Amino acid sequence: MPALAPSDIIAVIGAGAMGAGIAQVAAQAGHPVRLYDNRDGAAQAGIDGVRRQLEKRVAKGKMAQSEVDAIIERMTPAATLAELADSRLVVEAIVENLEVKRGVFAELESLCGPDTLLTSNTSSLSITSIAAGLERPERVAGLHFFNPAPVMKLVEVISGLATDAEVAETLYATAAAWGKVPVHASSTPGFIVNRVARPFYAEGLRLMQEGAAAPATLDALLRQAGGFRMGPFELMDLIGHDVNYAVTRSVFDAYYGDTRFEPSLVQLALVEAGRLGRKSGQGFYNYREGADSASPDFAPAADAALPPLVAEGQLGVIAPLVDRAEAAGLEVVRRESISGEARLRLGGLTLALSDGRCAAERARDEGLEALVLFDLCLDYEAASAIALAASPGVDAEARNQATALFQRLGLDVAWLTDTPGLVVLRTVAMLANEAADAVLQGVCSAADGDLAMQAGVNYPRGPLAWADALGLAFVHRTLTHLQQSYGEERYRASFLLRRKALAEETFHV
Ligand code: NAI
Repeated sequence: MPALAPSDIIAVIGAGAMGAGIAQVAAQAGHPVRLYDNRDGAAQAGIDGVRRQLEKRVAKGKMAQSEVDAIIERMTPAATLAELADSRLVVEAIVENLEVKRGVFAELESLCGPDTLLTSNTSSLSITSIAAGLERPERVAGLHFFNPAPVMKLVEVISGLATDAEVAETLYATAAAWGKVPVHASSTPGFIVNRVARPFYAEGLRLMQEGAAAPATLDALLRQAGGFRMGPFELMDLIGHDVNYAVTRSVFDAYYGDTRFEPSLVQLALVEAGRLGRKSGQGFYNYREGADSASPDFAPAADAALPPLVAEGQLGVIAPLVDRAEAAGLEVVRRESISGEARLRLGGLTLALSDGRCAAERARDEGLEALVLFDLCLDYEAASAIALAASPGVDAEARNQATALFQRLGLDVAWLTDTPGLVVLRTVAMLANEAADAVLQGVCSAADGDLAMQAGVNYPRGPLAWADALGLAFVHRTLTHLQQSYGEERYRASFLLRRKALAEETFHV
């Protein structure tokens, strides 16, 4: 389906943070835009706000004043809903209330022609429900922008039960023509991003609650080892705990209390205390003037003589780590192994990538006296920190040697209490698991699921592409181990992950 023509009129209802931004996007794409808000003066104020934002770009030399004038000229405040009647597309961005939205859609249906596409920017309400009861629910869809709309690339195009496929395709093409990255999703709680992202926060909160490490350490690991732009705690502080907690609650409730989405008491306590994050001056971190900034708990420099590093088996994803050891001037001996499994040996100490078991359990299972587990890194060549956990048989000297080894490679070392799946592996396995379930349930394709997480929340890699690279059997095994360790449904592996692992398939061909 072709995109709407730039001459088509776009109406935006609600001139708040989102509505004004969406109106700006449409006007920048060349459309005449009508902006309506039921609060007196709000539509004009929204347009004035857009002008101010754009003029900042003029001041920085990034835009011509004439361009700003042309964009603003295309934006008109509307005094009544009736003034939106000749629009080709309406984007509703009003208060998040189903009854209020339904009322607005019913009124729009009576005012607009039969071909007007009616969309909602809702984050949490069902498109199926918003459209229910209308005469032509097939022309209703979700058009979910992210905040701030002019900056964030992702637009989720949401189809409700009745949405016509051609309507979804037209919206998809239109969002693309507006310079956005559109993805298709079916109307299910959280759509793609707000669902698949839950474990990013939830696993961080669990790790902290269980005393694996403090927020500053966990954040640093997800950034420096995981390649995420922000760690979960600093990100929750930025989003606001009230908002993030409410989204978690709404997804949890919508999935009938599935424990995979269970909200955290740690976050509830912050909300109750009014520690909402940056906006209130304090969340996990203290943003008030003069407050001490929390720093990650990395091991001090270790000075130990290192025996040769023996690398055994099929190294797979950790191969660049061994290359890095060689490049750092360490003596590396490469060996085949009977099992083929990747193991590093440093004297009597064994080191291995976590597989979701805690070090104590794995050392017992494999008959090892001293085992240090290390965490997953997005890229072992570029990572600048790593999490480690030791089995009970690792003495102070072996611990010192493990620290020295990774420090010689230029990595900051964080020793965690012995926790299943460590930090990055556990987070990535759970993100991939959630994305896999979304694909299994027909919410989105694997390609759109990955694209949504990269364009919507800046993940360094799509969770499913990441799982492909790790091997789906390995990710499945990690989840199974997590589930066994905790005895919780929360970590149950998606059947799609299992099926693909058994068939030796991948998500992306
Ligand atoms: P906001 O509170 O900043 O703006 C809402 C605007 O709608 C206000 O100006 C209000 O006067 C107006 N309004 C309320 N009821 C109205 C009605 N019946 N008719 C006309 N105007 C009405 O809210 P925000 O943050 O812009 O959110 C709007 C929608 O966008 C919600 O559905 C929200 O879930 C969704 N959304 C919000 C995001 C965010 O980060 N704030 C991100 C993505 C979606």
